[in-house]
Amino acid sequence: MNLLNRVVVATLPYVPRLIVRHFAGRYIAGETLQDAVRCVRQINREGKLATLDVLGEDITSEAETTEVREQSIQVLHTIAREKLDSNLSIKLTSLGLKLRGDICFNNVREILKVASSYKNFVRIDMEDSSCTSDTIGIFKKLQREFSGVGIVLQAYLKRSEEDVRDLIKTRTNFRLCKGIYKEPPEIAFQGKEEIRRNFIKLLGMMFEAGCYLGIATHDTWVVNQANGLIKKFGLKRDEYEFQMLLGVRPELRKKLLRDGHRVRLYVPFGEQWYAYTMRRFKENPEIAGYVFKALFTRNV
Ligand code: FDA
Repeated sequence: MNLLNRVVVATLPYVPRLIVRHFAGRYIAGETLQDAVRCVRQINREGKLATLDVLGEDITSEAETTEVREQSIQVLHTIAREKLDSNLSIKLTSLGLKLRGDICFNNVREILKVASSYKNFVRIDMEDSSCTSDTIGIFKKLQREFSGVGIVLQAYLKRSEEDVRDLIKTRTNFRLCKGIYKEPPEIAFQGKEEIRRNFIKLLGMMFEAGCYLGIATHDTWVVNQANGLIKKFGLKRDEYEFQMLLGVRPELRKKLLRDGHRVRLYVPFGEQWYAYTMRRFKENPEIAGYVFKALFTRNV
């Protein structure tokens, strides 16, 4: 990150929420489930799939985890009732991972029971490295009982290759991404090229094992390499999908659709839009720069 970008990111917390909200509109569906339904309906009309994410990451009590569980279940009922082509993404810390493993396991199990009654699917997002082992542990237990559950692995983590070797044995349904959290060099690749190379290496291992893949990236180089692997393994359209975040690189997603691939958009919504948006801005300071500029210009 260059100096200017660092300054922009450091200044962000002082930018009025109203201005942040204006730019957040691109990355989040809105604050309510109704906003999310409208957004997914439009996405489906354009021939794309969705995965809904209820925003909210920091919880401190069991009661809060129950609330998140019930919201997630509500989302599944709504997807079914509104006949949306969408599944659900969840974060285990919001369901109690850092409180007690059994609370988290039971919460996710309740969500999966509802998902399986609708033959829907739940993806477990991957959070920072302090969560990796516990997240995989809970996933493996749930995978024995439910087929409609998948996990995320991060290409920047050095341990991911071992995790792939382990999880391909059960033909896990993966989402593979680069990884969004700041991790130290002892456990995570830092260079852009080495992360890319590891992404493609892991992708190849997963495809070779016959796993279903959500290829989560906006990086054209990774997309092209993934396309090479799709051809090499002779995969059919329903054996993988590309996944992108709402609001990011719409031109790339249109091209993928035109080329005949399935594309799923990650659609976050909820009252905690502010924390989520700040994370997105920190990830891509170029976008944060627009917000900063908006402070000094009229035509926002
Ligand atoms: P890269 O960061 O190189 O981006 C390529 C290009 O895309 C950039 O040059 C820029 O043009 C554009 N771009 C990327 N991000 C942008 C943004 N936020 N705003 C505007 N433009 C942007 N991570 C994680 O740790 N756990 C998880 O569970 C998930 N889940 C997840 C789901 C889905 C569907 C996606 C697409 C991503 C995730 N991620 C994630 C995030 C992921 O790890 C990674 O941080 C981002 O996808 C950025 O990496 P890219 O591969 O897109 O490459």
